[in-house]
Amino acid sequence: MKERGKIWMNGRLVPFKDAKVHVLTHALHYSTAVFEGIRCYKTATGPAIFRLSEHVDRLFKSAKIYSMKIPFSKKEISEGIIKTVQASGLKECYIRPIAYYSYGVLGLTPTPNKIDVAIACWEWNTGESSAGKTQGARCKISSWLRIDSRSQPMQAKAASNYANAALARVEALKDGYDEAIMLNYHGKISEGSAENIFMINKGQITTPPLDAGILDGITRDSVIRLARAEEIAVTERDIDRGEIYVADEVFMTGTAAEVKSVTEVDNVAIGDGKVGPVTLKMQKVFYQASRGMDDRFSDWLVPI
Ligand SMILES: Cc1ncc(COP(=O)(O)O)c(C=O)c1O
Repeated sequence: MKERGKIWMNGRLVPFKDAKVHVLTHALHYSTAVFEGIRCYKTATGPAIFRLSEHVDRLFKSAKIYSMKIPFSKKEISEGIIKTVQASGLKECYIRPIAYYSYGVLGLTPTPNKIDVAIACWEWNTGESSAGKTQGARCKISSWLRIDSRSQPMQAKAASNYANAALARVEALKDGYDEAIMLNYHGKISEGSAENIFMINKGQITTPPLDAGILDGITRDSVIRLARAEEIAVTERDIDRGEIYVADEVFMTGTAAEVKSVTEVDNVAIGDGKVGPVTLKMQKVFYQASRGMDDRFSDWLVPI
């Protein structure tokens, strides 16, 4: 990671190298943190943050689920995000706000600790999410089941959800795949390790519903809205593992991944094994909307 600009910590911009936490920080030991991943894109009228208010809302919802009272208002966090991007001088970046139980009392109970908030941003080079952008990603159905909301609230974007996701991701990479697809406790398709999933049949899109134990992805919501605006039907329903193998097309969505095509699952070619026309269309319309090239969705972008 290139250290560039500053990091916002509890309301102050501090130099990148000074944004440190104590080794006995509660969140480091017990995963008591909630966070967001947000993108700032270069547009013709300057850098703009994609769906900022939705991300800030989700951060506060995640915190509420974990009884964390963020000691800043949504407005203050939004302004902090904008200031952090401005201080970086970057035209495009990935932004990571995080709220966490801090240092003070180290036992399982988090609540005696104060909540700290940090916001960082850095240059995004597609790195781990490059597969699926220009050629299709090869995915593996993970042997790890996606944790279920009976065990952990999956609507929260909580650090604790990502141990399960990391196991799936690492297993897929070790087995020579690009990404994992996880089943839920009912054996239905849930999501990737950091993406929502969609399949296409006869030009129509299907995606698992939120009660499949998935994150309420902001890119998922954007793609559903874009598809409907393009008069492509979208249905939310449970998807069986077998349906994925015989789908015409499969793609995944996420802030990092954007719209990434999947052309192989468990060594089975999806459709003809090439990136399909609906995926290409959704990649194009998402690109245009996120880069300020689609007036219908200009309110998704906050100029900085
Ligand atoms: C588990 C999981 N599902 C889905 C997503 C996609 O969500 P979003 O589009 O809001 O980035 C993410 C990414 O943050 C994720 O981590």
